[in-house]
Amino acid sequence: MDPLTTKRAETDGKRGLAGSSRRYRIARLPLRPTMSLEAEIKKRRTFGIVSHPDAGKTTLTEKLLLFGGAIQIAGAVKSNKIKRHATSDFMDIERQRGISVATSVMAFEYRDTKINILDTPGHKDFAEDTYRTLTAIDSAIVVIDVAKGVEMQTEKLVEVCRMRNTPMIVFINKLDREGKDAIDLLDEIEEKLGLSVTPLSWPIGMGQRFQGVYNMYEQKLNLFRPHGKQSLEETLEITDLDNSILDEQVGQSAADELREEVETISAVYPEFNATAYQNGEISPVFFGSAINNFGVKELLDCFIDIAPSPLPRVTEERMVDPMEEKFSGFIFKIHANMDPKHRDRIAFLRICSGVFSRNTNYYHVRKEKQMKFSNPTAFMAARKSIVDHAYPGDIIGLYDSGNFKIGDTLTEGEVLHFKGIPSFSPEQFRYVNNANPMKSKQLQKGLQQLIEEGVAQLFTKDDNGRKIVGTVGALQFDVIQYRLEHEYGASCTYEPLPLHKACWIEVPDPEIMKELRLKRGKDLAIDKDGQMVFLAESSWALKMAQESFPDVQFRFQSEERSNEG
Ligand code: G4P
Repeated sequence: MDPLTTKRAETDGKRGLAGSSRRYRIARLPLRPTMSLEAEIKKRRTFGIVSHPDAGKTTLTEKLLLFGGAIQIAGAVKSNKIKRHATSDFMDIERQRGISVATSVMAFEYRDTKINILDTPGHKDFAEDTYRTLTAIDSAIVVIDVAKGVEMQTEKLVEVCRMRNTPMIVFINKLDREGKDAIDLLDEIEEKLGLSVTPLSWPIGMGQRFQGVYNMYEQKLNLFRPHGKQSLEETLEITDLDNSILDEQVGQSAADELREEVETISAVYPEFNATAYQNGEISPVFFGSAINNFGVKELLDCFIDIAPSPLPRVTEERMVDPMEEKFSGFIFKIHANMDPKHRDRIAFLRICSGVFSRNTNYYHVRKEKQMKFSNPTAFMAARKSIVDHAYPGDIIGLYDSGNFKIGDTLTEGEVLHFKGIPSFSPEQFRYVNNANPMKSKQLQKGLQQLIEEGVAQLFTKDDNGRKIVGTVGALQFDVIQYRLEHEYGASCTYEPLPLHKACWIEVPDPEIMKELRLKRGKDLAIDKDGQMVFLAESSWALKMAQESFPDVQFRFQSEERSNEG
């Protein structure tokens, strides 16, 4: 018997997964992987690009894909966004959903590295989706518009990355336009984003006077050559900035300015250190213009050199190292099928350790059952294809008929719960009412599935059982209504509920719970996992409740794990 199969069967036997272990023993392992696990892990980089809408995330993604040969023409990823003014344009919602399956993960190979880009919607109403995606990345590229500087959505997303010590590289975009002074911008990034930065490239002018960048990382001068509608990049090796070639190329005054600025920044900013970057302590900064494909290759080359390959992940039980022989992974995103006639969904699995193999039984921890997948999908080169094996850092799509929730773990038998897949406190709330009593079952099912997909959060009032939908953005209410109608044949109406926040609470003993129910019963609700939630009408009400119940813990985010059925 295949030694790997035997070993798995024994281990599972020990854990008492009887019944399923028998099936395990006879399961034929698909084609064996050829490269070692270590080599597969080392060649992978899984990251996300975060930015405020319009900073240039889509353009940069597209240029990166062009480098990797994953797409042939510019404009292929372009439509992947809802413009920030979109409110409730259902076509846009549907279009977004359709496109976002295709572009949720974009994988390509470049310089023998397998790069997985995870799409992170910039639109604030999809923020929760983005937050969850950030749990599946190992590093991030933060795109900032040189003219607009640090914007609100960037602040929020970077904060989530910072909480998790995710290494970040900053790309300052649109240098072909007039913008803020580079040093002022770095100050703003440090101040507003709380990042320690160190520039690895430095711009020579901007807007009309933009001549290129000096790449300190590679000690090269990249010259920006506008050429009709296109721009060309010319690269010259200049290890010593005193070299007169610099003056010849950019003119003496710009050359002197560059020398002076590079001297200043070398004195002010810390020397780049890859370990500090990988620990999330320092963020290198690059300047460029994505639309002109300028500075993008340098960014990508440096990214490949320094960005971490798949990192260990924390679970409630222990740390999981990607090099572990046994497979483990978690679901961070669920996407419903666009075709309402087919109810199946795609669950996105991030592989954290070992090798995932097709047609092999894995243990679904929450459901305590074995599952195997005959059509796991990879998203290589913007095409979907069935994979036999996938490795740590990879994202695969699993067809799901309702077995998965966000945060679910698959393993080879061990009980693990990956940490850091939080539910954030929603910011908008509405009571949801059934508008068609004949379809109450459909409404219930539809709501449950949409909640499992992570579209919104659902709370049930503790005192009267009324259902409340909580979302990060207002658009989600329209999405829910629309999808309930089109996919489940159910209809709902909303009633405004002016709440300030929902906080998850931990009540230390039943006596306090009794008192809480007595005094604040109307403010209590249960979330979808049975956790108690306090619905605060105002910040003042929240403060009062905290003061009256000092032993109760109030949390603004909940770890979205649920081991109860
Ligand atoms: P997003 O995904 O972050 O929302 O931004 P996206 O890439 O869609 O870029 C937003 C706008 O900024 C686009 O213009 C895009 O062409 C432009 N842009 C991106 N990079 C650069 C750059 O380096 N320089 C300049 N000058 N513009 C850049 P748009 O008019 O909104 O869209 P489109 O009509 O070009 O599609």
